[in-house]
Amino acid sequence: MQIRAVPFGAMGGVYEQDDLDAVARVTTAAAAGAGFFPLPEENDFQQAFAAHEGARQAIAVNSCGTALDCCMMALGVGPGDEVITTPLTFVCTAGTAVARGARVVFADVDPVTLNLDPEQVRQRLTPATKAVIPVHFGGLAADISAFDRITAETGVPVIYDAAHAVGTLYQGQPIGGRGLASCYSFQSNKNMTCLGEGGAVTTDNADFGERVRQLKTFGYVYGGPQLRVASVGFNYRMTKVQCAVGLTQLAKIDRVIQARQERMVRLNELLAGIDELILPVGHGAGHGSHLHVVRLDSTRARCTTAALTAHLKTRYQVGTAKHYPALWTWEAFANQGYDGTGCPVAARVCQEVFSTPVFPQTTDEELQYVAWALRQSLAELR
Ligand SMILES: Cc1ncc(COP(=O)(O)O)c(C=O)c1O
Repeated sequence: MQIRAVPFGAMGGVYEQDDLDAVARVTTAAAAGAGFFPLPEENDFQQAFAAHEGARQAIAVNSCGTALDCCMMALGVGPGDEVITTPLTFVCTAGTAVARGARVVFADVDPVTLNLDPEQVRQRLTPATKAVIPVHFGGLAADISAFDRITAETGVPVIYDAAHAVGTLYQGQPIGGRGLASCYSFQSNKNMTCLGEGGAVTTDNADFGERVRQLKTFGYVYGGPQLRVASVGFNYRMTKVQCAVGLTQLAKIDRVIQARQERMVRLNELLAGIDELILPVGHGAGHGSHLHVVRLDSTRARCTTAALTAHLKTRYQVGTAKHYPALWTWEAFANQGYDGTGCPVAARVCQEVFSTPVFPQTTDEELQYVAWALRQSLAELR
């Protein structure tokens, strides 16, 4: 095949004329006197997002990180508390708990789904456990029923990191109302994006939702005879232009996710039979298909993942990404004494994973090229 560049780049977001029109409409109205406050678009977007994700309410914020932080603050997470999560994730899944003074406890992942293993979580529960944060890794739903049982038996709340999981289904149903809350990301490469940044908390718990709503706007309590500040919060709001684009993004999200699903299923077909690779499970209907994460099986491979991805890049111009290095390997965590003790599956998986460049816009020729380049690379590195 002819060498062609298939980068793992700025793609992912799908912007069309309706998104551009929304920006122009809201900006023009604001500049003509409507102003950038108040935010009727926020209300509309929150209702539409809650409906899409099957939750009673959604609270728009400016990132998944701030969504998680609102949840940590609303739970009162602080020094002396423990929060259990997966080490196979982005920094801020654990970072918000650490930033609030808690100790994060890493529990191991399931070797097939790569999601947080509920049994491993159980073994780490202590009286200090304040919350559990599973990630719907890559867009594949976590084992929600098992986490529900943990909450029912122990009272420990579960906050889902749903950064990858707009549109993810669990047993055929949207996930947004499950656990105590879910935290979504609309950052630029996610399934839907709000001009580069954005996020939401969804919840079925009215009191918790109200706490989050207050904390994202300085702690203001509206609605009484006079404005109160019940607790100190921040300005974590999304702008009205972003909320307007959130609405147009939602109007196309099912189509965009289907395009992702089809391409990830197709790439799995093209890669089938390469015995050095462990392919991701669950792609197709119900999978959020945010990431296509392949593992180079370290018990069979004759090279490392780092060597393979470097070769793919330099020889074939195929870009990949790493989701993720184990959290304990980042110096911010290593310096606080975190390590991989008790997480042998994650320790291995984090060495093996690489994400292929599959986006809603990826063509079939590009998928065929990526599969060919992978086969070639594996043969050349023997
Ligand atoms: C699993 C996970 N959680 C949280 C985040 C943070 O999202 P945001 O950039 O919206 O804060 C990301 C972003 O990549 C993520 O992948």
